Amino acid sequence: MIPKAELHVHLEGTATPDLVRRLAKRHEVALPSKMFGPDGDFIWRNFLDFLDLYDAAAAVIRTPEDYRDVTLDYLRRSAAEGAIYVEMMSSPDHAAQNGMSYSDHLEGIAAGIEEAREECGIEGRVIVTCVRHFGAERGLEIARQVVAQPHPLVVGFGMGGDEAAYPAGDFAKVFDHAAAAGMPCTVHAGEWAGPESVRQAMETLPVRRLGHGVRAIEDPDLVTEIAARGLVLEVCPGSNLATGVFPAPEAHPFNPLRRAGVAVTLNSDDPPYFATSIGREYDFAARHFGLDESELRAVTRTALEAAFVDDGTKATLLAKLTSEAAATTTMNTPA
Ligand code: ADE
Ligand code: ZN
Repeated sequence: MIPKAELHVHLEGTATPDLVRRLAKRHEVALPSKMFGPDGDFIWRNFLDFLDLYDAAAAVIRTPEDYRDVTLDYLRRSAAEGAIYVEMMSSPDHAAQNGMSYSDHLEGIAAGIEEAREECGIEGRVIVTCVRHFGAERGLEIARQVVAQPHPLVVGFGMGGDEAAYPAGDFAKVFDHAAAAGMPCTVHAGEWAGPESVRQAMETLPVRRLGHGVRAIEDPDLVTEIAARGLVLEVCPGSNLATGVFPAPEAHPFNPLRRAGVAVTLNSDDPPYFATSIGREYDFAARHFGLDESELRAVTRTALEAAFVDDGTKATLLAKLTSEAAATTTMNTPA
């Protein structure tokens, strides 16, 4: 199995319908009936509807134990598909809405990461994210918590949410606060808004990576600039197809971006909402973008090199990727 690394997945968005139903039962809360379709899967109609559904499902994650369960469940499923490293975005806003403090929600996530490491050997880290449509003031509160309460498994700061209505520039102070404390940053841009949103994010925020970034393709000069700056794109093809950012695999700019010298990675975003997983993303890239095994391994290498994890762990993960490749070559070489 090809070793995989994931840099862009929303932890609250990894909870499967089954797990959401189990957590709702645990807390004896009723779920909106319109949340699930006839086959029990999440249903939503458009991007803003998806964000609402995401908030409703996240509302059942109410205790540190719940966060531990969601994290462990996701890391187990990812390890079973060959993932060796996952950076998960957690949202203290959702935790706070459910009555949990910043440190309590992290304690639950950390328990899940540590159990998964022992059980499956997978490494997990956290990117604390704020949510655009909750506003810049709330974003600054989150950034202040990240800086004031450092945690060994929190390796970065980011932002998701409604990109079209809340421009990146409004959040400059938020990101500056995190970056000034040495936190590497990433931001969603160029998913639900066009190249101007990517440009604004790049020019106003101290980011090393871009969540999605794919709509940069609409502006060739911008693509050149992204490549020149070495910004890494956290590309989520299954998500983009599911939400209609691109109408078909052939229209997805993964290969054009790659050919233009942009560093691209593969990610699942919100797997059960988009009928995907990290394994399916690699399969999708093989089938629709024509990536062979060595190109898929190169994607993993790009992700590990761009990971926000400490250098020692990064070196161990890169060595794992290299030794696995060597073992595969030896096995396939006739004696
Ligand atoms: N929050 C959860 N998933 C998201 C996505 N795909 N884009 C922006 N914000 C999100
Ligand atoms: Zn995302």
